[in-house]
Amino acid sequence: MFTRLLNWVDDRFPLTDTFERHLSKYPAPIGQNFWYLAGVLLIVVLVIQLISGIWLLMNYVATTEDAFASIQYIMRDVDYGWIIRYMHTTGSSMFFLLIYLHMFRGLLYGSYQKPRELLWVLGWLTYIILVAEGFTGYVLPWGQMSFWAAQVILSLIGSIPIFGEELLTWIRGDYLISGITLNRLFAFHVVLLPLALIAVVFVHIVALHEVGSNNPEGIDIKKHLDEDGVPLDSVPFFPYDVVKDLFAIGIFLIIFCFIIFFFPDGGGYLIEYINYEEANNLKTPDHIVPAWYYTPYYAMLRAITFPIGPLTAKFLGFVVMGGAMVIIAFVPWLDKSPVKSIRYKGLFSKLALFILVLSFIVLGYLGMVTPNPLRTALAQVFTATYFLYFILMPFYTKYEKCKVVPERIKI
Ligand code: HEM
Repeated sequence: MFTRLLNWVDDRFPLTDTFERHLSKYPAPIGQNFWYLAGVLLIVVLVIQLISGIWLLMNYVATTEDAFASIQYIMRDVDYGWIIRYMHTTGSSMFFLLIYLHMFRGLLYGSYQKPRELLWVLGWLTYIILVAEGFTGYVLPWGQMSFWAAQVILSLIGSIPIFGEELLTWIRGDYLISGITLNRLFAFHVVLLPLALIAVVFVHIVALHEVGSNNPEGIDIKKHLDEDGVPLDSVPFFPYDVVKDLFAIGIFLIIFCFIIFFFPDGGGYLIEYINYEEANNLKTPDHIVPAWYYTPYYAMLRAITFPIGPLTAKFLGFVVMGGAMVIIAFVPWLDKSPVKSIRYKGLFSKLALFILVLSFIVLGYLGMVTPNPLRTALAQVFTATYFLYFILMPFYTKYEKCKVVPERIKI
C-alpha cells in the first residue's frame, strides 16, 4: 500500500529521488569534525526561532503604549509564555554564536574556495539578514535599550552626507523614533526578514549539494570515485552523519535548556538588565551598548573619532562598520592560495587567522565597555588588524610556502 502510494507520488514528483540525493545518500566526506556541526545546529536554531516567534506573536502588541506591557503579560500571565520568550532570546544569541563558529570553520578550511564561492556568498547573505533580524527584534520589547539602540543605529543613516537626514526621516516614518518606526521594524522582523532568511538558507543548501561538502583536509573527494560514481572518501549521510548530528543536537538542546531554566538572562548578556525598564525618550541611559554579537562592529564605529574633509567621524565610522561586514563576502577572491585547508597553508595564513580572531574578540570586549582614550586607541589598532587580514590576503596566501596536499583523506 505504502509502496504503491510512493510510486504514485514519484511518478508525479521527484520525492524519493530528492530524498536520496539530498539526504539519505548524500555523500558526506569522511573526517568531518566538530566544526562541521554548526551548520545543522543553525538549522535547529532557525526552527526554534520560527516556532517560538510565531507563539510570541500571538500575544505581542506592536504599539508604543502596549509593546512593553505585552512582553510582561507574556512572561507572567500567558501559560508557558516565559519559556517561549526565553527560547527566543536564548535562540538569538545561539544563532550568532553558531554563525560565527560556522564562518570561522569556512575560513579555517578554505570552504569558500573554488567551486564554493557562491555557497559562501549565499551564506554571507544569511548573516547580513540575521544582523538585520537581530536589530529589528531587539527594538520590539520597547525597553530602554531597545529604544536607545534603535536611536544610535538609525541615526547613522542621518550621518550620510547630502541626503542622510531626508533618508532617515523616510526610514523612521517620523521625525523621531515613534510607534510608526516600531511598526515597520515589526513588519520587517516578523515577515520580510524571516521569509528572506528561509529562502536564502534553502538556496545555500542547494548550492552546497551542487558542489559537495569540503572537509578539514581540503581535499577534493570527487577526484576518486567508485564504479557507481560515488566518492571513495565519503560515507552516506544516513546513517553516519545523521547519528553524529543527532548526538550533537542532543547535547546542544541540553545546554539550551540549561540556559533557559537556570540562566535565562545570561548575566545581562542574553537580556540586558536595562531593558527591564520601559523605553523613555527623555532619559538617555549612561551607557548604550548593543547585544554582545554586535559589539565588535560597535567598537569599530566608535574607533573612528576623526573627520576627513567634509565627511564626519560618525559617517566614516558607519562606513568602516559596514565595510567590516561587506568585506567578508570577498574572501573567495582574496585568497590566492593553491591549498584550501589551514593544515596545509603556510605560517602567514595561520598567523593572519589568529590575529583576525583576536581582533574580533578584543573589539567585542571594547564595544561593551565605556570608551576612554586607551580603549579607543586599542579599538583603532584592532580595527586596522581586522581589515589587514582581508586586505593582505592576496599577498600572504600567494607568496607563502604551503605543504603538499595528499590525494586521499587519511583518518
Ligand atoms: C542561517 C544561517 C546558515 C545556515 C542555516 C547554514 C547551514 C549550513 C549547513 C547545514 C551546511 C552543511 C553542514 C556544514 O558543513 O556545517 C552549511 C555549509 C556551509 N556553509 Fe552555511 N549556513 C548558514 C550561514 C552561513 C554563513 C554566514 C556562511 C559564510 C559566510 C556559510 C558558509 C558555508 C560554507 C562555506 C559551507 C560549506 C562548508 C564545507 O563544506 O566545508 N554558511 N551551511
